[in-house]
Amino acid sequence: MSAPNRVPRHVALVMDGNGRWAKQRGLQRTEGHRKGEAALNDIVEGCIELGIPYLTAFVFSTENWRRSPDEVRFILGYSRKILRARRDLLHAQNVKIQWMGRRSRLWSSVSRELDDAAELTKNNTGVTLTMCMNYGGRAEIADAAAAIARDVAAGVLKPNKVDEDLFARYLAQPELPDVDLFLRTSGEQRISNFLLWQSAFAEFVFDDTLFPDFDRSHLRRAVEAYGNRERRFGAEAPISLG
Ligand code: IPE
Ligand code: MG
Repeated sequence: MSAPNRVPRHVALVMDGNGRWAKQRGLQRTEGHRKGEAALNDIVEGCIELGIPYLTAFVFSTENWRRSPDEVRFILGYSRKILRARRDLLHAQNVKIQWMGRRSRLWSSVSRELDDAAELTKNNTGVTLTMCMNYGGRAEIADAAAAIARDVAAGVLKPNKVDEDLFARYLAQPELPDVDLFLRTSGEQRISNFLLWQSAFAEFVFDDTLFPDFDRSHLRRAVEAYGNRERRFGAEAPISLG
């Protein structure tokens, strides 16, 4: 598969529709999550093929605790299991795994698995896969503001130094570039508190496919749609990012 002309540097992926996929088939919602995991692997391979350097996936949000205890338990336990099962293959594919989200409340066995995968793959130079677990965009921004306030109170930061660039350095993964393509599956057209700061100038593509049926061919179509957009960043004419 040949790469389209203009490829996004950073794709944000909201993997939605697992529950509906399962319901349509008379299956438990958890079966949708299992099938969704296979879809994510295919998307990672699609990123490798297309030359997309950053993929950030919304796995579990700060709001997902509102789901039934059984479903929360399944998603966290299953994430822990697949991280262990998949990390060697991802490592062999030169994928750098990292994660962001609040540690508090997240099972420590899950954050330990995430930390281990990050440690194993930290020197890889291929796709950077950022797993968002117990993540919320507002929580991330509030946590950055709190850290800035602490540094100001400690006298190591002057309030007049706080600007957009400095603020961005206090985010959970400061080296993540801005989101170019924000992609959500299942026909829902919402941000749902994902990467609020980083998506300020993102192009949004919504695909009707339920996530378990989503694969690299859908990713490719989204990247093509992205390639045809005119990005202006507030200027009157398109701005080329080179
Ligand atoms: C996405 O699928 C997976 C997670 C949010 C963990 P959903 O579980 O939201 O599926 P629907 O929206 O109910 O179909
Ligand atoms: Mg959903």
